[in-house]
Amino acid sequence: MRGVRLTGWGAALPDKVVTNLDLETMLDTSDEWIVSRSGIRERHIGGTTSGLAVTAARAALERANCTPDDIGILVLATSTPDQALPATSSVIQHRLGLPCGAYDLNAACAGFVYGLVNAAGLIALGTERALVIGADTMSRIIDWDDRSTAVLFADGAGAVVLEAADDDSDLLGWDLGADGSLAGLLSADIGGYLQMNGKEVFRRAVLVMVDSAVRACDQAGMSPADVALLVPHQANTRIIAAANQRLGIPMERTVVNLDRTGNTSSASIPMALAEAADQGRLRRGDLVLFVGFGAGMTSASAVLRWHGPGAAP
Ligand code: ACO
Repeated sequence: MRGVRLTGWGAALPDKVVTNLDLETMLDTSDEWIVSRSGIRERHIGGTTSGLAVTAARAALERANCTPDDIGILVLATSTPDQALPATSSVIQHRLGLPCGAYDLNAACAGFVYGLVNAAGLIALGTERALVIGADTMSRIIDWDDRSTAVLFADGAGAVVLEAADDDSDLLGWDLGADGSLAGLLSADIGGYLQMNGKEVFRRAVLVMVDSAVRACDQAGMSPADVALLVPHQANTRIIAAANQRLGIPMERTVVNLDRTGNTSSASIPMALAEAADQGRLRRGDLVLFVGFGAGMTSASAVLRWHGPGAAP
């Protein structure tokens, strides 16, 4: 089967920064509560899902050294589309000038990894290059008077380019999961606000992250302890630390940027990857593990061997 190579990445954040101190002026909360419970210090708010996605995608195309004409499929992971119809991916496809098909995918905060695996499947079927974007404007479905959710969620976008690889594949193992019996833990009605049972989401998140990561690593024929860099969904540092402890992956080998981004749902993993890659934290041949979880209750993991451009030898 044809394999894939990850050749480009990019990220986009709205300009407006909202700090915990800003939230203290609007809500009965404190910087101390937010930092100790979640690890978040500030977040970016604003823009549209399509607008942020286009900016992140342009950066990923440039990094991959390819033009819009080279792309054979666009997969957009989002739970906050600009409109119910048309799919936001169509708007992005037009704005980028892509000559290909495009679709939205909603797997909540696990959406980007779902998209990555979808794109790898399409490449196996003959597509040459795929653009995978995770983009969300969670601020649009947050009740800004509800301190239990307003302090956690934010906006952003991240994107990667995947190309066909005939020799070996960067994608070594993957796992996609869902448990709809837990749908009530985290939900938003159409046109309504996000509601969450935070404590139970926390408990379940640690369990599904560990199970999903172990399944993907098993498929890749490796142990989680072999991972050079873990790129987890950026929801809460305490969730990440608890999962890491069970997986045997130290925090030094884990990307954490939620202190500056908050929880950007589908965007969080590709944004964290882009930051790590730009900072030179990845070396050629490194094993990278993505782990996402979210409403639904979805989970998704992927193990990649890093060959990215600019990778240290
Ligand atoms: N500021 C101050 N106090 C607050 C705030 C706030 N912003 N929010 C809630 N509280 C209060 C509550 O009213 C409650 O008070 P009470 O005990 O008097 O009733 C108390 O703080 C709740 O404290 P805990 O339940 O002990 O808080 P906890 O340590 O569980 O932390 C949190 C809450 C941060 C929500 C945590 O449970 C969590 O992170 N859960 C996971 C959430 C998550 O990751 N969601 C995203 C999933 S991904 C996706 O698909 C979008």
